[in-house]
Amino acid sequence: MNRSARRDVYILGIETSCDETGAAIVRNGREVVSGVVASQIEFHQKFGGVVPEIASRKHLETINPVLDDVLGKAHFDYEDLDAVAVTIGPGLVGALLMGLGAAKVISYVKGLPLIGVNHLEAHIYANFIDHPDLKPPFISLIVSGGHTILAYMEDYGSYELLGETLDDSVGEAYDKVAAFLGLGYPGGPVIDEMSKEGDPTAIQFPRAMMRTGDFNFSLSGLKTAVLNYVSHLRLESHEIPLHDLVASFQAAVVDVLVAKTVQAAKEKGIDKIVLAGGVAANSYLRQRMIEETRSEDILLYYPHIFLCTDNAIMIAAAGHRRYLAGDRISLEANPIPNLRLGQGIEE
Ligand code: KG4
Ligand code: ZN
Repeated sequence: MNRSARRDVYILGIETSCDETGAAIVRNGREVVSGVVASQIEFHQKFGGVVPEIASRKHLETINPVLDDVLGKAHFDYEDLDAVAVTIGPGLVGALLMGLGAAKVISYVKGLPLIGVNHLEAHIYANFIDHPDLKPPFISLIVSGGHTILAYMEDYGSYELLGETLDDSVGEAYDKVAAFLGLGYPGGPVIDEMSKEGDPTAIQFPRAMMRTGDFNFSLSGLKTAVLNYVSHLRLESHEIPLHDLVASFQAAVVDVLVAKTVQAAKEKGIDKIVLAGGVAANSYLRQRMIEETRSEDILLYYPHIFLCTDNAIMIAAAGHRRYLAGDRISLEANPIPNLRLGQGIEE
């Protein structure tokens, strides 16, 4: 294939911000050519959460096989690509460094433009893969292991932060409650499944900040309420109603997420809501959002489940827009572990 003879743009995306090593090739920002994710979950499971040192080491071991795999599946050589886009933040600094290092080598050796991608923005861009007709403005709820953010995306690259969590993220709350109950890591998918057999109204857990009139969230009180409830039952040697407990916890989380997201859309006068991040895979959140948006005449978008959790397809999709905008990073660029949504990235 000759790069100058065609107008399609092929971006290689690389993702290593947490515990998934991902690479993907995406055409014109919206079509997946190939995508590979190597999960490290089994190496972190026995520790009950992500161990940063293990994450970095595993990324280093895995990144080259993952890159070979993604190119092989696409029948591509590096020469067939137009640019390499890599997560520059937010994330674990050592983990980010591994992907950034690999991307720099490819950029330097193959002469490809190097693009830094904001991982939070990329979670939103996962939606553009599945919904080619989707365009801003819209309200986005980003719920992941590291973040809980309600944002107004006015245009490509233009965000207004409406609210965020003041303590734990939603994914973190799921993971901590699951760890406490001995359900393993990550907790979200397990609680999602178990809740299907539980009664979400069985236990009345607090709906924190439901009536504060702003768009911020707080999850740590709910987490403590669950832990107290369980400790109390254990002390009295009562059986723990696991399914009802996790379903009630999940209902308390989702009630607030749904109410504030729909309220944000109404206040902004926007009829589109976009879910993003690992917790957007949650079946109860999706179901409740579908119900609430339907009655308000709001269009709801969420990505395919495999695009909700960390992957490089979304990185390549977000990188495409930055490619077209001429945004580049230099070979001296450093990871930005606390990068915020909408924050500028070094040229
Ligand atoms: O977006 P992500 O892969 O990583 C970050 O950027 O943080 O999100 C991972 C989080 C974990 O906390 C995991 O428990 C949660 O997403 N998660 C879920 C589900 N699938 C993953 N939470 C609730 N329900 C799910 N089905
Ligand atoms: Zn993520």
